[in-house]
This record gives sequence, structure tokens and C-alpha cells, in this order.
Amino acid sequence: MQTEILDINDVSLKLSKRIIMNGGAVAFPTETVYGLGANAFDNAAVENIFKIKGRPNDNPLIVHVHKDYDISSLVSYVPDYAKTRAENVWPGPLTMVYNSKCTVSKAVSCGLNTLAVRIPSHQGAQKFLKYLNLPIAAPSANISKHVSPTSAEHVFNDLNGKIELILQGGKCCGGIESTVLDCTGDFPVILRSGLITREMIEKVVGRCGLYEFKEGCAARSPGMKYKHYSPNCKTMLFSFKDLNYALKEYEKQKRLGEKVKLLCDEATAKICGTAEYLSLGNTEAEAASNLYQKLREGENCATLIIAVAPEKQDGIMTGVMNRLIKACGNEK
Ligand code: TXA
Ligand code: MG
Repeated sequence: MQTEILDINDVSLKLSKRIIMNGGAVAFPTETVYGLGANAFDNAAVENIFKIKGRPNDNPLIVHVHKDYDISSLVSYVPDYAKTRAENVWPGPLTMVYNSKCTVSKAVSCGLNTLAVRIPSHQGAQKFLKYLNLPIAAPSANISKHVSPTSAEHVFNDLNGKIELILQGGKCCGGIESTVLDCTGDFPVILRSGLITREMIEKVVGRCGLYEFKEGCAARSPGMKYKHYSPNCKTMLFSFKDLNYALKEYEKQKRLGEKVKLLCDEATAKICGTAEYLSLGNTEAEAASNLYQKLREGENCATLIIAVAPEKQDGIMTGVMNRLIKACGNEK
């Protein structure tokens, strides 16, 4: 199968509709990462998404809808705090998990009685979703466990020959996946950290929990238990306070013949002198926006990435650290 990358216009939207209505999958941009979308009502199409990605079949998908789509046909109970949150953030990088009406294919939620819903703010995503006027089930458009794609070229590198169409939407500015918020209880609980932070949610609705997956326990968000976001090269992760050890390791691995790159923010790089590095930039938002791009650059030019965690760990950095640990840490 030939994979095309096309700008978003009447011709490519028409083609994407034909592909989706025939049970196929189309990659499309969002403000976080690229998604691989299929018709959420079409069981075979949704199952095919899992096959294309090599995704475990107990890791449910998020349903994406355009901003005027009536989600009351999909979910049964939306608590007041979730409505308040939605008014503030949607369209945007927040996914909310509700009780499902089970109107979409069972394969979307892998048999769970909940449904994750997201309204992305990216103009291209909105055009695509509006044109289709369907709930679109979409995981990130990468091969399972690999680094999530933040450009059409990243998607092409992973899925060339496996899908017909990638809609070109440029670089995703957010850079890490949406915050996943469980809205089925008395107060919201973050299942996956992202650009909408716990602090931001607490400011609007008061209480907000943060779910931490523990090895050996059933995962409330099944995606949390899997290895994720990993580049195709060796990796090591050091905390900021162990920067000296990271630099010693960098020199040692170079002597051993590895092509090594540090992965760190600009402030850390300044302290590191002449070490070659992949820059996470200057701010928290830049770190999120650059992370996956730099992991992919690293796997193309190095045999080993030594990541140094940023000093700051709260706010958006909670989500960045969560990805960094899964990509470069031992927790695989
Ligand atoms: O930013 C994003 O969320 C991107 C773009 C494409 O929208 N999508 C994305 O999808 O990251 P994916 O499939 O890579 O991650 C979906 C996450 C997984 O951790 C999954 O376990 C969780 O959402 N999830 C989906 N449905 C759920 C449900 N019903 N209950 C709990 N967690 C759910
Ligand atoms: Mg993913």
C-alpha cells in the first residue's frame, strides 16, 4: 500500500471520508500528537487500528469528536465538575473518561463500561472531524511502544505502507499526549498527566486526584502498565542531582565506542560544557513540545541517549517526567 501525505483541503478530506467509510484508517494532526483514526461505530475498522499499531488489545482508545458534536449520544452521565472543566478546556488537550452508553464499537474501550472522549483544538483535526461528523477512535499514530509522532514525517516513518493517508498538519505544538481525566467518580482523577495539569484542574473544580499505577495491581487506565515512548537505541536516565554521574557515564560510554547524546534542557546543557546534546529547550512548554522530536532525532544519530531529568518536576513537568521515565528509565 502506498502512503500519501496530503495537505488538509477539500480533496484530501473527501479522500479521508472515503477511506474511513470503507473501514480504513487515516492519520491526522492534533495539538498534542498525531492520531490514527477510524470510525468508532465500525468494529472491524477499530480492531484494524490495534493490528496496524501492534497494540495490546486491552488498551482502550480515545474517541475524538468535533466541538459541536453532541456527546450525550455516547456517554450516559456527565457530572457537574466535568461540565465545568469541559467548558474551560474543550477544545483542548484534555480527555475525559465517562460512563459509556455503549453506542460505539466494543473494541474502542476493550470491554470497559467507560468511554474516553476528547475534542482536539487543532484546526486540522477540527476540519477532519467536522467533515466526517462521526466519533473517531484514535490512538497515537506510532507503532506500539515507539515514541509518539509529533509530525507527519514521524507517522510516515512508523506506518509507511500500512495506511493510505496522512493528513499534513505540521508540527504538533503541545508535544505530549492529552491529560486523561477519570470523570466517573465524585471528583476527577488524573489517569495520565499532560499539558492540562492537576494544579489547573484543582483551581477550577477544587479537588483532583492523581492515579499512580502500581506494579502488580489492575491498571485503572490500562495504557499505564505498558512500556511506551521508547526510542530504538539504548537509553539511560539520571536525575538532575546526579548530573555529575551522568557526565562521567557520558565520557565512559564515548571511550567504549558508543555514539552518545545527552538529552537535557538548555540550563543543564550550559553546565555540561562540551558534551553533545539534544536540546529540550528553555521552558516547561518547550520541554513538552520538543521531547518526542528529540527522542526520534536521538535514535537516528546515536547508539545511546543519556537523559538528564529537568530540575523542576511539577506542573507540565509531571507529564514530561512520566514520559521520560517510560522512554529512558528502567521502568519498562
Ligand atoms: O493526545 C492524545 O490523547 C492522543 C491524540 C491522538 O488525541 N491520543 C493518545 O491515544 O495518546 P493513546 O491511545 O496513545 O492513549 C490513550 C490513553 C491510554 O493510556 C488508554 O489506556 C487511556 O487513554 N484510555 C482510553 N480509554 C480509556 C478508558 N475508558 N478508561 C481509562 N483509560 C482509558
Ligand atoms: Mg500512544
